[in-house]
Amino acid sequence: MAEALRIGIAGLGTVGASVVRVLADKAAELTRQCGRDVVVTAVSARDPKRDRGVDLSAAKWFDDPVELAQKADIDVFVELIGGDEGPARACVKAALDAGRHVVTANKALLAKHGVALAEAAEKRGVLLNYEAAVAGGIPVIKTMREAMAGNSVNRVFGILNGTCNYILTRMEAEGLSFEDCLKDAQRLGYAEADPTFDIEGNDTAHKLAILTSLAFGTKIAADSIYLEGISNITQADIRAAGELGYRIKLLGVAQRTESGIEQRVHPTMVPTASVIAQVNGVTNAVAIETDILGELLLSGPGAGGNATASAVVGDIADIAKSRPGFQHGPVFGRPAKELRPYKKAQMRSHAGGYFIRLTVHDRIGVFAAIARRMADNDISLESIVQHADGKEALAQKTVILVTHETTEAAVRKAVEGVTKDGHLTSKPQVIRIERAE
Ligand code: HSE
Repeated sequence: MAEALRIGIAGLGTVGASVVRVLADKAAELTRQCGRDVVVTAVSARDPKRDRGVDLSAAKWFDDPVELAQKADIDVFVELIGGDEGPARACVKAALDAGRHVVTANKALLAKHGVALAEAAEKRGVLLNYEAAVAGGIPVIKTMREAMAGNSVNRVFGILNGTCNYILTRMEAEGLSFEDCLKDAQRLGYAEADPTFDIEGNDTAHKLAILTSLAFGTKIAADSIYLEGISNITQADIRAAGELGYRIKLLGVAQRTESGIEQRVHPTMVPTASVIAQVNGVTNAVAIETDILGELLLSGPGAGGNATASAVVGDIADIAKSRPGFQHGPVFGRPAKELRPYKKAQMRSHAGGYFIRLTVHDRIGVFAAIARRMADNDISLESIVQHADGKEALAQKTVILVTHETTEAAVRKAVEGVTKDGHLTSKPQVIRIERAE
């Protein structure tokens, strides 16, 4: 049998402890699958005394993850610290430079420094695996990088943040407040250390940036993603969406358009009958549309210790099975040096349907003024309804518009016009509608 594969793990939080547990519980099965033992020989975390419910007695403890990366007797360095700079970046770079394979779940790090790290890995001929960085346990990286060779991607989109989907699902199903749902998501170990990364869409953007590079062979450009989170989605939006045959999801979307590659993260109305609308709770889903395959939809657990550990262990097993000279190809599907800059499509030119919710003074001429602003901007309306749920003050009403396909620029201008007309009693709500089967 080949020599044991020696693993060093930096970061022993929810995911790190789950990885140690899975590697121990499934040791015999992994040995059968990989043709060699897989053993954790070194670990590093902030607090050596904390009880993590796993046996670390056989592993050498390092206070400094960079030292572990450089000096420990390991073949694979697993980074589960998180964060796009600081110790996470330093130890991954150190591990690659020292010629170690790296497995990471760190989407923020890859979204910011992925191309440079891929170059370092490719230069040293080592693997940089990151399945757990996107959509938790769903094997989307493997699918895009290996199983879809030769396909040209037109659009990739999905529910990429378990915390947001969990919150939106429970708000709709149980009428709970945003804050209560977020607290539960934190308790269950789904949320980031700073949950604003989840709810403001940054975490989805990090994952989308990685998927965009894989899909289109472009450099990672997380900074140019249009970003809106879910913190201003209210029960009124969720109810209105339901009445109109839609469900609200936080989607990340990257698509080829005539004006370039569009990358956007925002709350989105998807038809209630579509498959993606049925993806509930912490479950994630990624849809990939290509020229050869057509549309593929992958769904599965998107966050939490076990789901993420499953992807990390899969990456480790891939390395255990690899032999010198055999790899699964470049880190982002093409050699890092050949990843191209891309032409960014402006959000203003985004084309699609829109849901617009306005709270207006209940007086003569308001409907007509709103309709005029829409017509002046060439916006064709699919429906316009006055929504009276009995909760508004008597002197105000909710008006909900659903548009046919139009542009972001037209909608922004029309809503600006309606606001200027002085009929609104609160900030208008605009939610994009996404085509989905
Ligand atoms: N906070 C992330 C989520 C964890 O909720 O999806 C998985 O990346």
